Amino acid sequence: MLVPMKELLGWAAANNCAVGAFSVGNMEMVIGAVAAAEETGTPIILQIAEKRLATSPLHLMAPMMVSAAKRAGVPVAVHLDHGLTLGCIREAIDFGFTSVMLDCSLLPFEENIAKTREVVAVASQYGVTVEAELGVVGGNEGDTAEHKILCTDPAQAARFCAETNLDALAVAIGNAHGNYPVLPALRFDVLEAIDRVTDVPLVLHGGTGISDEQFRRAISLGIRKINIATASFDALAAAAKDYTGTVEKPDYFTLSPAMANAVNANVTRHIGVFRNGR
Ligand code: 13P
Repeated sequence: MLVPMKELLGWAAANNCAVGAFSVGNMEMVIGAVAAAEETGTPIILQIAEKRLATSPLHLMAPMMVSAAKRAGVPVAVHLDHGLTLGCIREAIDFGFTSVMLDCSLLPFEENIAKTREVVAVASQYGVTVEAELGVVGGNEGDTAEHKILCTDPAQAARFCAETNLDALAVAIGNAHGNYPVLPALRFDVLEAIDRVTDVPLVLHGGTGISDEQFRRAISLGIRKINIATASFDALAAAAKDYTGTVEKPDYFTLSPAMANAVNANVTRHIGVFRNGR
């Protein structure tokens, strides 16, 4: 069942847990993630970042993601992750995405507010949920360029939420996209301070490599959506390598379910942690 992301954020708050937002880049990832959601009876978010559309075009991915969500036996939201342009955000909405993220976190604070307000104005006409980011999450969804992590300022977060009327706020608390070289030292003091000054559900990016204990603590401090990308892409690639490395004549019809199953296992593992977050 395709649902607005806002509904899943409400579900997460009511159950003291977080909803998993799982990035997908092909059919096997969509099949694997939705199967995990159905098998565990848990709502999820299927998402794709604007920068990933160079590899996985929106006109192919969007109908598949929306269709999979509509047919799923559990509630599924379809989300544009790290939207960078209003054009792409409008396109995703036209394809039936039920939420969009605008990432203007590298712009000056006032500009981030202004652009987020613009997206909220457009999205609200379609009942589409809006996520935005304040502070700078490390790494970069879609390329290898590194930029510095800059923790979200709680006072700015309060103003940002009040002035933009957004539905979900992605925070920077020492988290980064991609594989961490070592377990990150997350700033739970900052997260607690942000949670104290706003009722807006909070989002944790860079989920790959964060420990189960850290996930649980983050959830207890207001995180209601957690993004997982790299772990699923890596699981799929490893499954493909394992399979092609062990048989003499690899065939697609065995490879495809092997990749979907690997993504399913990763999504299932994270769902387990996110649901029992309290
Ligand atoms: P990871 O690739 O670190 O799991 O991050 C996912 C993410 O935050 C996508 O926006």
